[in-house]
Amino acid sequence: AIPVGILGTGKYVPERVLTNQQLEQMVDTNDEWIVTRTGIKERRLAASEEATSDLAYKAAQQAIVNAGLTVEDIELIIVATITPDMLFPSTACIVQEKLGATCPAFDLSAACSGFIYSLATANGLIQSGLYKNALVIGAETLSRITDYTDRNTCILFGDGAGAVVIGEVPAGRGFQSFVLGADGKGGELLKVAGGGSRKPATVETVTNREHSIYMAGNEVFKFAVRIMGSAAEEAIEKAGLSKKDIDLLVPHQANIRIIQSALNRLELTEDKALINIDQYGNMSAASIPVALAEAVEQGRVKEGDALCLVGFGGGLTWGSTVLKW
Ligand code: ACO
Repeated sequence: AIPVGILGTGKYVPERVLTNQQLEQMVDTNDEWIVTRTGIKERRLAASEEATSDLAYKAAQQAIVNAGLTVEDIELIIVATITPDMLFPSTACIVQEKLGATCPAFDLSAACSGFIYSLATANGLIQSGLYKNALVIGAETLSRITDYTDRNTCILFGDGAGAVVIGEVPAGRGFQSFVLGADGKGGELLKVAGGGSRKPATVETVTNREHSIYMAGNEVFKFAVRIMGSAAEEAIEKAGLSKKDIDLLVPHQANIRIIQSALNRLELTEDKALINIDQYGNMSAASIPVALAEAVEQGRVKEGDALCLVGFGGGLTWGSTVLKW
């Protein structure tokens, strides 16, 4: 198969910061609780005129430049998101138009695992010879589906976008393995119930706050602790590596305690993980590509390094990949 890897990374986060201190004014919570239970200190919120495609567009531009390519070179666009600009057209088509690209474009829905699912999809399409490269974006404006009267969820989420361009790389480098998983039985644990065909928007769905995220936090937490370590382990094994070979773990940023438990299971120290949850909270599909872009910016990845990317989320879903930089 054609070796496929990351050619360039990009990210964009909105300027507006929402701190724990500001949340103290909004719901019955406090900075100390949020920091010790989640690791989050602040998160970014999109401006009122900014939608998911606006964040995605900026991250994408950076990824294309960093890949040494131009928009004309891009052959496929996938946007992973649970907060599309609208039900349709897809956010990927909106981004395509903003970029001035002409290639096929589609959205992929796998909640916080969306970026890994999208990478696996794009990797397969490139390996099959259908396309030479792909722009893969994880972008969210979770603030638009967050209930800022619900202290159980509103402290967790933030807005942002990360992007990569993937394509052929020298032999021995690039993606070594993918693991994807889903368990629809857990779908009720994490959802936005309203606004789809089951419960179209009505005055009642608005009154019942069914257009914002419902989460059974404790259940999701237990699932996450179990799956993050095991999905990463599986990808490492499939790649023919062992845990100690991993130079950098880039985990989904949902809760610092979930990341720490994954690190324990993988027998990795905290300096082997890119952790930015304190600044951004949980950006769903955007968390992993933003963290990856920051790892590159900070010079934390060098040629030959083995990286493990791992995420989990609504669906329930999970996904992981091991790649050689
Ligand atoms: N401030 C103060 N107290 C709070 C807050 C808050 N913001 N939120 C909850 N509490 C209270 C609860 O009401 C509860 O009080 P009680 O015991 O009197 O009932 C107490 O704190 C403990 O609540 P728990 O839910 O047990 O707290 P826990 O340690 O589980 O932390 C959290 C909650 C942070 C939500 C955790 O469960 C978690 O991180 N879950 C996973 C979330 C996640 O990973 N989501 C991923 C995917 S998101 C996506 O796909 C879009």
